[in-house]
Parts: sequence; C-alpha cells; structure tokens
Amino acid sequence: MDRTAVAKMGAVASASVCALVGGVVLAQYIFTMKKKTGKKTKIIEMMPEFQKKTVHIKDPARVEEIICGLIKGGAAKLQIITDFDMTLSRFSYNGKRCPTCHNIIDNSKIITDECRKKLLQLKETYYAIEIDPALTIEEKYPYMVEWYHKSHALLIEQGLQKDKFAEIVRESDVMLKEGYENFFDKLSEHNIPVFIFSAGIGDILEEVIHQAGVYHSNVKVVSNFMDFDENGILKGFKGELIHVYNKHDGALKNTEYFKQLKDNSNIILLGDSQGDLSMADGVANVEHILKIGYLNDKVDELLEKYMDSYDIVLVKDESLEVANSILQKIL
Ligand code: TMP
Ligand code: MG
Repeated sequence: MDRTAVAKMGAVASASVCALVGGVVLAQYIFTMKKKTGKKTKIIEMMPEFQKKTVHIKDPARVEEIICGLIKGGAAKLQIITDFDMTLSRFSYNGKRCPTCHNIIDNSKIITDECRKKLLQLKETYYAIEIDPALTIEEKYPYMVEWYHKSHALLIEQGLQKDKFAEIVRESDVMLKEGYENFFDKLSEHNIPVFIFSAGIGDILEEVIHQAGVYHSNVKVVSNFMDFDENGILKGFKGELIHVYNKHDGALKNTEYFKQLKDNSNIILLGDSQGDLSMADGVANVEHILKIGYLNDKVDELLEKYMDSYDIVLVKDESLEVANSILQKIL
C-alpha cells in the first residue's frame, strides 16, 4: 500500500470513530434530556387534575419548578391573590351566563326597568371592548373608566338601599366555582391570607361570600365599596375606582397589607382577565408566583395570549379543582 492509501484509510477510520463517538454522545444527550424532561414534570404528570383537556400550559417544566418552590415553602410562605367575578364566581352554569357583582343589581327588582335597559346597553358596548382581542390594554383603559362612571352614576340615581342587598344576592343566579368550599376552608384552616381583588362591587361581593359561608377571617376584600347616607341610601362610591385594567395602581395602594405579609413570598394568583395579571404588583418580596388564568370567552382568539401570560390557562373551566390540587400538595 502506498502512503496516500494508508493516509486515506486512516482518515476514513478516524471519521468513522468520530461519527460513532458523535452518535453515542448525541444518544446520551437525548437520553439525558428525556430523563431530565421526564423528571421536570413529574409532579404535574402525576396529578389527574392537570390531565384534563381544559388545562393548557405553555411551559410545563417552569410550572413544575414553581409548584416545587410552593411545596417547599409550605403554608408559612404562601398567600393567595385572586380576582372575583368569573374567577371565583362562575361564568356560566348549564349553558346560561352567571352574573357579575354588577349584574346582580342589573338583574334585580331594586332598579327600574328603564335603568336596567340602560345598564344592559352599556354592558353590551363595553364588555365587547373589555374582551376585544384586537385592542391593547392601553386602548381599552379609557373605555373601562367610561363604563364604570356611567354605570355607577345610574346606580346612584336609583337611590339603592343597602338593606336590600342580602335579598337580591339570595335571589340572583350567582354561583361560586365548583370546589369553592374546599378552597376557602382549606385556606382558612391553615390561616393562609387570601386577598380578593375585584373591580366588581365590594358590598355585593361580601354578601355573596358571606351567604356561601366562606367569608373567613383570613379573607380580605379590596373592591369598589359603596357609600351610603344615614338612611342607608347609596350616595356614591368610596375611594378610588378599581376597574378591570387599573389593578396595578390598586395593588400599589395596598402595600401596607402586603408589607405585613412580607414573609409570604410565595403566591398563587387567580384571574380571568389580562388586567388581573398585575394584581400582585404591590408584593415587595416575591419568591415564587404561579399565575392561573381562566379563559372563559373568545377562546380561539385569546388562547395564545393567555398561554403567554398565565402559567396555567383553564379554558371554560367552572371549577377550582386545579388550584385545590396544588393546595393539597402544599398544605
Ligand atoms: P372582577 O375584577 O371581580 O372580575 O370584576 C369586574 C367585572 O365586572 C368585569 O368583568 C366588568 C364587570 N362589570 C359589569 O359586569 N357591569 C358593570 O356595569 C361594570 C362597570 C363592570
Ligand atoms: Mg374577573
């Protein structure tokens, strides 16, 4: 054999060895990755509540990591920050829409038919804007302010009586999500702070959770509270308006509350709107935050956006099962 032939053979042999080694390394890499990925989602893979078609997660490994952090921190570090309408309360039941706090009044007999008509017209116009996938939060913002001002002015005109609220809530179609007893009772049992942050009407909201028997001492409600005169007649609203897209400002006004909870650095946030994502902005010390978002309407258009912003997206889910299953692991 001449020298070139030997050199050629040598080159072929070394190329084969390289390919072989490369192949082995690649196989090893894939194997390790698979093993790692498998491990990375071990907890959520074992939870039946996560296997339902309604549960959408963009990054399961990240969710697993957050849940691990929450489990590690336990009850001592946990706090809940949650929206109310269409998050704790149901969006629909048996195919029929359920009311928001405002709608409980809109549908009741304590307002005139003329006022009801006007409120429903407002809802038609502005709810479409609230959920419009083509508009940004900044674009929606002024319309939300307009909606709340118009709607609250109409309610004030009606001279609503506070002592009628218990009755209108009882007679309404409002319903809390399936599993709410377990959710509130477990959180109360372990004394986990629950911050209900709602752009609804605080007086109605409190009546709903009171009647449901879950307004425990660990629950704090921040919302739009009505102001009544000495005869219990509505004369205005207290404090600054909270609407769907200014929860960031509201959150920062509650830094005192969050300061007291400075050791509760693990958060489970529950919401149904893009505006709810800023509800934890007042928390100074965040170690782990798990954002769970209910997507109730315009699912096809909004799913991607929700999956980009919420860690777990629950599509048309009328239950608190996923949250409860996570609490079960932590507490
Ligand atoms: P939330 O922050 O608890 O979800 O409450 C806000 C909801 O209330 C939001 O979806 C808009 C809705 N709303 C009405 O249903 N009727 C009204 O008149 C107004 C001003 C708001
Ligand atoms: Mg809501």
